[in-house]
Amino acid sequence: MTDTMKHIVLASRPDGAPTAANFRLEESAVPTPGDGEVLVRVHYMSLDPYMRGRMDDAKSYAAPVPIGGTMEGGAVGEVIASNSPDFKPGDFAFGMFGWATHGVQPAKMLRKVDPAQAPITTSLGVLGMPGFTGWQGLMEYGRPKAGETLVVAAATGPVGSMVGQIAKAHGLRVVGIAGGADKCATAKDHFGFDECLDHRAYPDAKSLSAALKEACPKGIDIYFENVGGKVLEAVIPLMNPFGRIPICGMIAWYNAGGLGANAAEQALTAPKLWRTILVNFLSVNGFIISNHWANFPNFLKEVAPKVADGSIAVQEDITEGLENAPQAFMDLLTGGNNGKAIVKVI
Ligand SMILES: NC(=O)c1ccc[n+]([C@@H]2O[C@H](COP(=O)([O-])OP(=O)(O)OC[C@H]3O[C@@H](n4cnc5c(N)ncnc54)[C@H](OP(=O)(O)O)[C@@H]3O)[C@@H](O)[C@H]2O)c1
Repeated sequence: MTDTMKHIVLASRPDGAPTAANFRLEESAVPTPGDGEVLVRVHYMSLDPYMRGRMDDAKSYAAPVPIGGTMEGGAVGEVIASNSPDFKPGDFAFGMFGWATHGVQPAKMLRKVDPAQAPITTSLGVLGMPGFTGWQGLMEYGRPKAGETLVVAAATGPVGSMVGQIAKAHGLRVVGIAGGADKCATAKDHFGFDECLDHRAYPDAKSLSAALKEACPKGIDIYFENVGGKVLEAVIPLMNPFGRIPICGMIAWYNAGGLGANAAEQALTAPKLWRTILVNFLSVNGFIISNHWANFPNFLKEVAPKVADGSIAVQEDITEGLENAPQAFMDLLTGGNNGKAIVKVI
């Protein structure tokens, strides 16, 4: 066991898009687990869009990371010391260890991960928080019905790809939106979407909306909201009566404090959106997955066998080295990832 560990701290708060200067790699002593606690050597850590929100000192559903604090995040690794009867050295565990090579957590905050069941990286994506988010948000708030049409953006990410694949399994027409021709090919060929539009190929919401109309000849029944921005604007006129919009994320606006850079555009969107909700009797539900953990075992029961037999496809984008996590995170925010963004730490 090494005596020192590495971690990445928030050096300063970003003004808009994060830069390398907002992060700092530090070394410290490996912590000693206390009573009921477990020390884990991290193998893989997750990069997720929500981490951008934690970098801002703004009111949200979770507290910001303090300046000088280790960047938050989920990670999976091997137990190297344990003061809990529930874990022994050699076990693998998922926990909120942050952007770090090692971490100590109370055993009750950890989830055991069985490498014999699935590669441990899947605990960060398809069989972890993002996959669960897609499944839960679609089933509870999307309420999919065979024959309907669903649209989801960030289609090849861990949330969007789960939404699309579960919707297909329920007999819906599934139209993805993704950044670039390669990602659109992945959405169709790897994840089985019926159609996928490259949002970068359309200069404005109007042209994207026209293309979406062709791809969704019967209109849109479920818009699983991952991004906001131009995609939301394009979708609004195409929503069908009694449609559903689970609001999962709005990454297009995260670098603008979550509220959007273009105030004039937002001012136009709001009345259009409210009117569409009213006249089409839409159900719009925001949700944060941390309020739904009680249902996680049901998700695993249904989806883990599908991952094992290949009927749910997986795509991971793994960056080597903790020191490269900031760049990989900045890439994630602008679509540079191709699949679930993961950093290999060991
Ligand atoms: N509510 C919750 O509890 C919860 C939990 C997990 C995740 N989420 C949210 O779910 C969404 C997807 O998360 P994920 O982990 O699956 O991320 P992801 O797809 O791996 O990565 C984010 C993707 O967003 C797309 N994107 C970025 N800027 C965009 C823009 N301006 N317009 C359109 N697309 C844009 C990029 O894909 P393209 O290159 O394809 O555009 C990028 O790859 C995020 O908004 C996230 O915050 C919410």
